[in-house]
Amino acid sequence: MKAIVFEDTRRVGVHEVPDATIVDATDVVIRVTASAICGTDLHMYDGRTGAEPGLVLGHEPLGVVEQVGSAVQMVSPGDRVVIPTHMYCGVCYNCARGYTAACLRVRPGGFGAAYGYAGMGDYRGAQAELLRVPFADANCIPLPGEPYDEHEDDFVLLADAFVTGWHATELARVGAGPAPVAVFGAGAVGLLAAYSALLKGAGEVYVVDGVTARLEKAGELGAVPVDFRAGDPVEQIRERRRQRGLPPGESVLDGVQHGIDAVGFQARDRAQPDAELPFQVIDDLARLVNPTGHLGIAGVYADRDMHPAPDGSTSGALTVPWATLFAKGVSVGFGRTHDRRYTTRLRDLVLTGRAHPGRIVTHHGPLSEAPELFAAFDRREHGVVKAILRP
Ligand SMILES: NC(=O)c1ccc[n+]([C@@H]2O[C@H](COP(=O)([O-])OP(=O)(O)OC[C@H]3O[C@@H](n4cnc5c(N)ncnc54)[C@H](O)[C@@H]3O)[C@@H](O)[C@H]2O)c1
Ligand SMILES: [Zn+2]
Ligand SMILES: [Zn+2]
Repeated sequence: MKAIVFEDTRRVGVHEVPDATIVDATDVVIRVTASAICGTDLHMYDGRTGAEPGLVLGHEPLGVVEQVGSAVQMVSPGDRVVIPTHMYCGVCYNCARGYTAACLRVRPGGFGAAYGYAGMGDYRGAQAELLRVPFADANCIPLPGEPYDEHEDDFVLLADAFVTGWHATELARVGAGPAPVAVFGAGAVGLLAAYSALLKGAGEVYVVDGVTARLEKAGELGAVPVDFRAGDPVEQIRERRRQRGLPPGESVLDGVQHGIDAVGFQARDRAQPDAELPFQVIDDLARLVNPTGHLGIAGVYADRDMHPAPDGSTSGALTVPWATLFAKGVSVGFGRTHDRRYTTRLRDLVLTGRAHPGRIVTHHGPLSEAPELFAAFDRREHGVVKAILRP
C-alpha cells in the first residue's frame, strides 16, 4: 500500500510499505477515504520530536471497514467509521472513567497512544491506503452515509481537530453562557475551539493569530479576529471589551473568563515573529484572564524539544507566571483530548445540522500531493489551514 513516510527534517515522501493487516483478533483494517494533516504532524516534520525516518505519519482517519478480526462484534466490512487519534481499550481504569487518552493498555509501560506519532506507541500512521485499528470495537465510531458525501470533511475532523477544539473549551470550563472567551492560535484546533465556544453559546469569542488567511476564517465563523502583528493582543482585547461597554463596577473584568492555548511549544515570539518563545501564549493568557477565570491548554508541549529554535532550550520545563495565576485564583486544565467523550456528541451535532466543522477545510489532495501540502502548511503559505489527503 502507499503511505506518507517521514524521511528527514522537512521531508516526507510517498512510499510503498507492507499492507496493514489484522494482528490481534480484536483488530480491524480500514480502507482510508480521508486522512487530515495536523499541526501535530508538523512537530515531527520539523524534526522536533526525534521521529525516526520510516515512520508512517497521520492520526486523523476516516474510512470504511475492510477486514475484521475474529473477536470483533460491533462493526462489519463495509461500515463507514471515523477513528479517534488517541487509541484506547475502552475498559481499563482510565477508559472506564472517560479518560481515553490516558488508556493503560495501549502502550505497555506507559499510558496513552496514537497512530503515527513518535513516542506514542508502535502504531503505524493513517496517511495511508489502509490502517490497522486495534481494540476495534471501542475505536470505530460508526457513521451514516457514503464516502465523499456532503459530510466527508465534517466527519474526518471528528478524528482529532473538532474533538480537540471542543476538549479545549472543556479544559477552559466554557459552559452554556455568554462569558467572553479568547483563543490563541487560528489553526484547525483554535478555529474549532472558537467554533465550539460559539456552539455552546459564548457571546464574545476572540481569536488571536498572525496569519491573515487564518484570521479571516475566524471572522467567517463568527469570532473576532485579533492580529498580534498589530500590537499586544492582550491590550487589543481589553480595549475592545471596554469599547463594548462593561457594566458599572466591573471595569476590572475587561479580560476574558475563559482562555485557550491552541498553539503549543512552537509559539512565535511576538517581539520577533521569526523566532519562537515557548511560553509566549501562556504568558499572554495569564495576563488576559480575569480573576477567577479558567485556562485550557490544548497546544502540545514536548517533553524534550530535539531541535529547539535559536535561543531555545531542549527542556520542556518552562517558566510560567505562577504567582499571577495564584493571585487571580485561576484554574488551568491541560492535555490531550479524551476523544471518546465527545466523538458521538459532535457527530450528532453534525447530523442534526447544528455543526458544520468542515467549513475550515481549505485543501484536498491525493497522497502524491502530500509533500507539497506539508511544505505549504509548515510555512503557513497558500492559505493552507486544514488539508485533507484522499488516499
Ligand atoms: N491536546 C490535543 O489532544 C491536541 C490534538 C491535536 C492538536 N494539538 C495541538 O494543538 C496545536 C494546534 O494545532 P493546529 O493543527 O491548529 O496547528 P497549526 O500549527 O495549524 O496552528 C497553530 C497556530 O498558532 C499560531 N501562533 C503561533 N504563535 C502564536 C502566538 N504567539 N499567538 C497566537 N497564535 C500563534 C500560528 O500562526 C498557527 O496559525 C498544536 O500544538 C497541536 O500539536 C493538540
Ligand atoms: Zn491531529
Ligand atoms: Zn484503556
